[in-house]
Amino acid sequence: MSKVTIQCSNLSKTYDEGISKIQVLRQVHLEVNSGEMVAIVGTSGSGKSTLLHLLGGLDKPTTGHVTVAGKNLATLSENEKCRLRNAYLGFIYQFHHLLPEFTALENAAMPLLIRNTEPALAEQKAEKLLDLVGLKNRLQHKIGELSGGERQRVAIARALVGDPLCVLADEPTGNLDPRNAEKVLHLFFDLQKSLQTSVIMVTHDMNIAKKAQRVLALEDGRLVEV
Ligand SMILES: Nc1ncnc2c1ncn2[C@@H]1O[C@H](COP(=O)(O)OP(=O)(O)OP(=O)(O)O)[C@@H](O)[C@H]1O
Ligand SMILES: [Mg+2]
Repeated sequence: MSKVTIQCSNLSKTYDEGISKIQVLRQVHLEVNSGEMVAIVGTSGSGKSTLLHLLGGLDKPTTGHVTVAGKNLATLSENEKCRLRNAYLGFIYQFHHLLPEFTALENAAMPLLIRNTEPALAEQKAEKLLDLVGLKNRLQHKIGELSGGERQRVAIARALVGDPLCVLADEPTGNLDPRNAEKVLHLFFDLQKSLQTSVIMVTHDMNIAKKAQRVLALEDGRLVEV
């Protein structure tokens, strides 16, 4: 039976820049079940990344709360939030945030190394995922030696390496050609089927969004069904 993996209610976010205040999100409600894929669309600046950051506990809401695997993020310390993120979430950032001094393989293995998984095992799992995203021949490349799309795929491998309950993906296919974008989507679908992973994916591409079970749009700070 499906269960709620991530949920938020009454979520608002206002950025306070001294004289100017920008309200980006207004009373957003969202509930995502295990095995469900939700796409979020919206114009540039509509608050898509802001919403993902709040759902992943990377930023704090102005009002409302987020629950991940039944735990209210507001009740957790920073350390507890880090542990919860590592255990349950796979985050694919819009701008990757890979560690430049490490190789593709080390970056992809990082979530498992942080969990104290045995290094050989962590690298084995990371290698398998890098292979699945078409980077078998780039394992030992440093991040600076990779193309934009290759970096994006390392970030995807890193997000999936720890078998997360929920993947939060900020334009995961933004830098990819159609064939590689399709590969990534299939990886998500496989995880949905095999591990009941849920996926919340921000995208500008309506063709990709339409492959999700639900498409939601951010309009004037509110999340509406498309
Ligand atoms: N730290 C911040 N301080 C002040 N304003 C911010 C901050 N982060 C984002 N904003 C503003 O909030 C709005 C929403 O930003 P966000 O990054 O969530 O948009 P987005 O929908 O992801 O856009 P894009 O499609 O271009 O990635 C933007 O107008 C942005 O300028
Ligand atoms: Mg964004």
